Amino acid sequence: MSALAPGAASAAWPPGTGGARDPVLSFEHVNVSYGTYRALFDVSLTVPTGGIVALVGSNGAGKSTVARVASGLVPITDGAMRVDGVDATRMPAYRIARLGVAQVPEGRGIFSTLSVEENLVLSFGRKLPKRDVRQALDRAYGAFAVLGQRRRQQAGTLSGGQQRMLSLAKILAVPPRLLVADELSLGLAPVVIDAVYEGLLAIRDQGCALLVVEQQIDRVLAIADRAVLLAKGAVAWEGPSTEAEAAMERLLASGSMTGVSMTTAPSAVVASATPATPPRSAPSTPSALNDLPPPLHPLAE
Ligand SMILES: Nc1ncnc2c1ncn2[C@@H]1O[C@H](COP(=O)(O)OP(=O)(O)OP(=O)(O)O)[C@@H](O)[C@H]1O
Ligand SMILES: [Mg+2]
Repeated sequence: MSALAPGAASAAWPPGTGGARDPVLSFEHVNVSYGTYRALFDVSLTVPTGGIVALVGSNGAGKSTVARVASGLVPITDGAMRVDGVDATRMPAYRIARLGVAQVPEGRGIFSTLSVEENLVLSFGRKLPKRDVRQALDRAYGAFAVLGQRRRQQAGTLSGGQQRMLSLAKILAVPPRLLVADELSLGLAPVVIDAVYEGLLAIRDQGCALLVVEQQIDRVLAIADRAVLLAKGAVAWEGPSTEAEAAMERLLASGSMTGVSMTTAPSAVVASATPATPPRSAPSTPSALNDLPPPLHPLAE
């Protein structure tokens, strides 16, 4: 598979330049509240067509909220969202899905008593004419070699990571325009994460853009073209992924950023020790990455 060098796409397709590389996803001044709790403040970002954007930030920064908004699972309070230029601000999730936005399936969503191939055939058969199923299987096995090796194995006996790959492979029936992946590697062994990331690149190579939320920042920056740094529900920095580490270090050095590190440890993003705080009253400034409230929710992962 041909992995695009980090930053290459950003150089080729700076968002907002129009033409064939119009963004597949754009947020324009998006605000989101959960009841009285305001989670996103004036968030503007774009995912270029066919590009990979890493969404990075401390616990509670609003990453999963962005991911849920992109999939239509959380409504926008104020602002706008476009998918391929189409106004999707008030669209229900099923219509956003029809525009080509897919979320990495939560859990595994597979039939444990069926084989790997039976699972894929069943899933592809629902979306494709029969004659195209073989080709989709080849795509899936091309992206996830281990599934090809285990095509006759009962899905329920796969490891957790392999089951994650199987659920990811299902989206390869018809590659979506944008895949939103939130904490894909959570709880997976490093070797499995490698395979999942290779699968993501294979999906991108089929023309699908990716918005990736990941605790292991160095991993996601290695595949991303651009990065968006979120802090306290606002965009603190946005730019080529190759510059993201330096940007984070600057923010750390200035003392305006805590709780995020570039280590390869599974918990590269750690919770702030800040005690629980009431809902924030003002939008954060670009440098306000510290004092994050601890997460109150187990929803996203
Ligand atoms: N359903 C909800 N009701 C109330 N508050 C919520 C809800 N979901 C999220 N929040 C709050 O919104 C803020 C952003 O949450 P979000 O899940 O988007 O953060 P995150 O960056 O994904 O965090 P993490 O790294 O822990 O996954 C957090 O303060 C969180 O507690
Ligand atoms: Mg989250």
